[in-house]
Amino acid sequence: MQLHMNTSPRFGEPLTRGDRKSFGADVIAEVREYMAPLRYAVTSLHRMNALAQTMHIGALLLKDESARSSLGSFKALGGAYAVIRLVVAEAEKRMQCPVRASELSSPVVREIARDMTVACATDGNHGRSVAAGARLAGCHAVIFVHSGVSEPRVAAMRELGAQVIRVRGSYDDSVAEVIRIAADANWLVVSDTSWPGYEQVPTQVMQGYLMMVDEVLNQCHERAVLPTHVFLQAGVGGFAAAVAAHMSLRMSRAAPRFVVVEPERAACLFKSAIAQQPVRIPAGAPTFMAMLECYEPSLIAWRILESLACGFIALEESEALRAMQRLAFPFAGDPFVLSGESGGAGLAGVMAAAARADVREMLGLDQRSVVLVFNTEGATDRLLYESLLSGANATFGRDTAAGQPTGVP
Ligand SMILES: Cc1ncc(COP(=O)(O)O)c(C=O)c1O
Repeated sequence: MQLHMNTSPRFGEPLTRGDRKSFGADVIAEVREYMAPLRYAVTSLHRMNALAQTMHIGALLLKDESARSSLGSFKALGGAYAVIRLVVAEAEKRMQCPVRASELSSPVVREIARDMTVACATDGNHGRSVAAGARLAGCHAVIFVHSGVSEPRVAAMRELGAQVIRVRGSYDDSVAEVIRIAADANWLVVSDTSWPGYEQVPTQVMQGYLMMVDEVLNQCHERAVLPTHVFLQAGVGGFAAAVAAHMSLRMSRAAPRFVVVEPERAACLFKSAIAQQPVRIPAGAPTFMAMLECYEPSLIAWRILESLACGFIALEESEALRAMQRLAFPFAGDPFVLSGESGGAGLAGVMAAAARADVREMLGLDQRSVVLVFNTEGATDRLLYESLLSGANATFGRDTAAGQPTGVP
């Protein structure tokens, strides 16, 4: 692993007024209202005591998004939420009156939705969320995927009724293609990444993630435990920025340190932090953390993380695999966590950081630290999950107590 400490002159500066408004406590009521039709479950916050002990930190909290919904990842919150907002906004425009999210299933709103097409590019999870939102609202969804997106992930989007179009190249090529085609076809682009002049919809996608952040803060308060550090995996950075922005606005002086974790093979935020400006990095060998394979940060995310992230970690592939395996084969007393390739990357960052004295020192990680991570996905590609874990039982199963459930349930 490599660590780059944030040296930007913007580090520690307050967020812009717009970002404070978009990601502060006041939006939560609105988020809850528009999220209600999706009927998502509250997810668990696990305490991983045995793993924390081996890392010589005070506590490890893990918010488990694998069980958020049948979509299997936290992304279920963002894309679907943005689709609902777009449909409600269109209904308000056409009906010339306020429309509530609870009216989404009314015949008149469904009739309006039937005329609408939403489109996005995806590595898998965001597209599933957009497809699920479109199905719920009754509009059409066209999802663009790049060559690296696995067939089971494409099938999952088709099962939700979306049309899926494969594009040659990387995630960034699929983003370029959706913009080009949607402009001609008059489709609404529901992107989880933002660029100059395109911020409103990605802001809504990120606002959807706040549901999870609000939940975790409430869970921490109930248990009277506040994190000192949060390790956040990043693709384009929307997830990490939404969490960091909301937590820092809610917790102000008590806000924890935020550390961004990316695969070394797709470390666009890490490289942007070194350059002190958003940079597009060249595509290289693919990372197995497929959902994090992005080569250019989201503009909103970069702006927020440049102010709030104290450090940026670039992970080796083997480090991420080790975390995923540890979650599948936990130490005695810790819960089993179903964690897909990108789900455990934040934890992998903690494990790699905690093992190095110099990194512990730089991040202020010690026996008093309370570290929060998010398992952002379950086994969203089951076959791949099983193949990545095959053989791990021999190494990791040893640490688990006899009689403990281990491995794939
Ligand atoms: C499971 C999972 N974790 C993390 C991320 C990273 O989110 P972002 O691209 O907003 O940084 C993604 C993105 O698709 C994801 O699917």
